[in-house]
Amino acid sequence: MYEPSTIVMKNKSIVKRSLKSVWHPCSQMKHYEEQLLIPIAKGRGSWLIDFEGKKYLDATSSWWVNLFGHNNKIIKAFVSKQLNQLEHSMIAGMTHEPVISLSEQLSELTGLGHCFYGSDGANAIEIALKMSSHYWREKGKTQKVKIVYLQNSYHGETLGALSVTDVPIFREHYSQLMQKHLQVDSPDWRLKAPNESIKEFTSAKVEKVKRLFDEKAHLISSFILEPLVQCASGMGIYDKQYLKDIRSLCNEYDIHMIVDEIAVGFGRTGKLFAHQYANITPDFLCLSKGLTGGYLPLSVTLTRDEIYEAFYHEDVRKGFLHSHSYTGNPLACSAALGTLSIFKDNDVIGNNAIKAKKINKLFESHKDLPISHFRNIGMIWAFELNNNVNIQKVIQSCVANGLFIRPINRTIYFMPPYTINDLEMRHMVKTSEEAIKRHA
Ligand SMILES: Cc1ncc(COP(=O)(O)O)c(C=O)c1O
Repeated sequence: MYEPSTIVMKNKSIVKRSLKSVWHPCSQMKHYEEQLLIPIAKGRGSWLIDFEGKKYLDATSSWWVNLFGHNNKIIKAFVSKQLNQLEHSMIAGMTHEPVISLSEQLSELTGLGHCFYGSDGANAIEIALKMSSHYWREKGKTQKVKIVYLQNSYHGETLGALSVTDVPIFREHYSQLMQKHLQVDSPDWRLKAPNESIKEFTSAKVEKVKRLFDEKAHLISSFILEPLVQCASGMGIYDKQYLKDIRSLCNEYDIHMIVDEIAVGFGRTGKLFAHQYANITPDFLCLSKGLTGGYLPLSVTLTRDEIYEAFYHEDVRKGFLHSHSYTGNPLACSAALGTLSIFKDNDVIGNNAIKAKKINKLFESHKDLPISHFRNIGMIWAFELNNNVNIQKVIQSCVANGLFIRPINRTIYFMPPYTINDLEMRHMVKTSEEAIKRHA
């Protein structure tokens, strides 16, 4: 009989079984012959723990999902309660309390009137892209089908989302399957010339967008961007003025603004939503990842009432007929309600600001390391390792010393769970510092 609690499953045998049957994501499977695959038995707070009891500080919040760490009591209680009530019912032709409460709360937080659900971030992007061009079609503007996206953008791996993603290694084998859209320069500060001010650099990028809109607005349905931080292409940070200016241009040229906060939503940048730094309201807002705090997959695309109303009609074909089997799943919605309750009952953003200050103080010792472009916003830290540092060795050394990091190319970043305490902060900063020093 299978009794997990009584079986002592050692790391080696778990890894062996995994490599035999699991095709791991975002991985060259052959590299696991040499690189580590860490077998995780359980999670507690900011830590992941393997089958032999070794602990790893989860400095990426498990791909930026577990905002409140692992085994969070509050979210768990919301899900457990819902488990005794209703695990699933479709929401075409039916509805239930968790999906209603969640939609009401999200609308209140964002000022966007309607919520459409999916399961993963990429779903939310597909939904926004489809809704936007469908909206223009309903308005008789059938040519408005092109999407403007940023250099170095990342919006997910399904074909629609990938077609507005600028990460060549993810795209190159599938280009023949995708529509061509319109790419504009990234406003990432790292791309600025040394003698240029951030203001000059940002306004030059906005000016280029304006020229594109002047020429092609009649063909463009939407402009999609990750507000303030382009995470998956290496934590590139840009100025909030860019968001403000793009919002104005989108208004002026009748183009939707799709704001993808899948990675940065729910406090990661120091405000509940990153676009709030610019005091703007998007036409579409995509959320996922931290929404359920790592408990269950869920994503949501929020939009303005005026867009929703364009689909409201006698004719079924004018409705938005997109669906997924698990759309609005009650367990996933209850996990999201648990996450929102934590924000409601605690000053998460204020507490994070205090933690960020402490972490920045600890990172002061990094200034003599062979790194460049050290940057921080909210609960995100990143820098590039100089070419003389052996990055694989740095990763191995961090992991061996109980710190899990997953750099993007030569960018080392930290997006720790908001549960991180003083000792854990020290562990994160000092372990990485020692690893870099050792392998420079
Ligand atoms: C900004 C952004 N958008 C979309 C996605 C895709 O989300 P998912 O991996 O859940 O499909 C990601 C994932 O990292 C992301 O960072």
